[in-house]
Amino acid sequence: MPRLIAAIDQGTTSSRCILFDASGSPVSVSQLEHRQIYPRPGWVEHDALEIWRRVSDVIHGAMSRANATAADIAGVGITNQRETTVVWDRRTGLPLTHAIVWQDTRTRDLCNELSADGGQNRFRQQTGLPMATYFSGPKLRWMLENVDGLRDAAEQGDALFGTIDSWLIWHLTGGPDGGAHVTDVTNAGRTMLMDLASLDWDDELLKVMRVPRQMLPRIVPSLDRASWGMTRRDGPFGGEIPVCGCLGDQHAAMLGQTCFTPGESKNTYGTGCFMLLHTGEKPVVSTRGLLTTLAYKLGDEPACYALEGSVAVAGSLVQWVRDNLGMIADSTEIESLARSVPDNGDVYFVPAFAGLFAPHWRSDARGTIVGLTGFANKGHIARAVLEATAFQTLDVLDAMRQDCGLDLKVLRVDGGMAANELLMQFQADLLGVPVVRPVVTETTALGAAYAAGLATGFWKNTDDLQRNWRAAKQWEPQMKSSDRRRLHERWKQAVERSLGWER
Ligand code: G3P
Repeated sequence: MPRLIAAIDQGTTSSRCILFDASGSPVSVSQLEHRQIYPRPGWVEHDALEIWRRVSDVIHGAMSRANATAADIAGVGITNQRETTVVWDRRTGLPLTHAIVWQDTRTRDLCNELSADGGQNRFRQQTGLPMATYFSGPKLRWMLENVDGLRDAAEQGDALFGTIDSWLIWHLTGGPDGGAHVTDVTNAGRTMLMDLASLDWDDELLKVMRVPRQMLPRIVPSLDRASWGMTRRDGPFGGEIPVCGCLGDQHAAMLGQTCFTPGESKNTYGTGCFMLLHTGEKPVVSTRGLLTTLAYKLGDEPACYALEGSVAVAGSLVQWVRDNLGMIADSTEIESLARSVPDNGDVYFVPAFAGLFAPHWRSDARGTIVGLTGFANKGHIARAVLEATAFQTLDVLDAMRQDCGLDLKVLRVDGGMAANELLMQFQADLLGVPVVRPVVTETTALGAAYAAGLATGFWKNTDDLQRNWRAAKQWEPQMKSSDRRRLHERWKQAVERSLGWER
């Protein structure tokens, strides 16, 4: 009897394989980073082949740490950084160019051109998304127009497109020898090519982005009892296991946090920071700069939707302070450095490295630090770095409150930065809402495992999953509302100063 479920969590900076047992506890973990390629300011690329190799290595690592063989694994679930765009050759299995990462802003002129007729919200009704550099459709059009021979290969059916989920599933299930070319609804919904209601590729959008339909994957639910294919025997699992769960990472975190009821929400503090609010079986179109997105689609059940506040830079700002400024040697040191001062000393850091995402959607914004005086020191900068994530989350929550009259009772948090106690207290203070962290903070991988586990009958239903969720720590708001308002006003002034820098 299989005793485990395998989850592959392919993120912006690293890949992980985690094996979970029936209680939803991680049994073994293996993680490896991959290169971030910055060919020009504003451009961010990944080598998709390097990612596939890292994923293969972490699978080996997790399997050997748990002393597991393929027979021990009931199913495989995939979760991934969303929007990052890969094109590859169906015959060789090799990428045809570097993947364009979700943070990359090279399509800014193209997006402006596409917004000229109908504005930034031209396709919001169909896609739930504003026209922005973030999404895959414009990235794919850029590739088709700039990579030699790609359009011809795509038209002949030799070049395939996929987000990272498709790329990995295709390789896991056979690669050039008949790998499954699929993507799930949560990932497809971030391409700007899928219609939110029909859950199918939209002909008008394909025409606008000039994308040949034959290069696109088949859109599938987030889990499938029939599975999309078996892992290849000569692949990293060393045997055949059904690949039957797939969700974009933020949607997987919703599952991992067991947000199954309208009104429930989670905030994941990863490379970026993404708050999702479950809105039920009908898409709610935002008027406040939020995205309408799929929450998940569990097999044949109706799809559930969410409102999302996407923040592009959160944990990656801490890494930037570590790698580009050398201010700390390890990311965890940011907390003690921030604690060396009692407050931010009126210093604010707006990390608009990829423009500003929700609720602003301004690709002309750039990073800025304001309020510096001779008094400011490293501690104040460290505080401003952490507070930036909390302020951006507040802006997103305010938009949710205005969009749908949300009255949030508690915010479930996860991701690397949720380990930061100072940030979590400040977050509860700023939001005026308790913040709660579960025992298992690997909720993204857990969500992918849940999808595969539900598909294979490893878990019977969502009640089984809910029983696994346990709170580890809760932070209560302690700040006076007058202080909260004053700090928020200063933050908004700082944001104003970041806008329009890139012309
Ligand atoms: O939309 C981008 C998002 O999926 C990236 O997630 O976990 O790498 O911050 P992460």
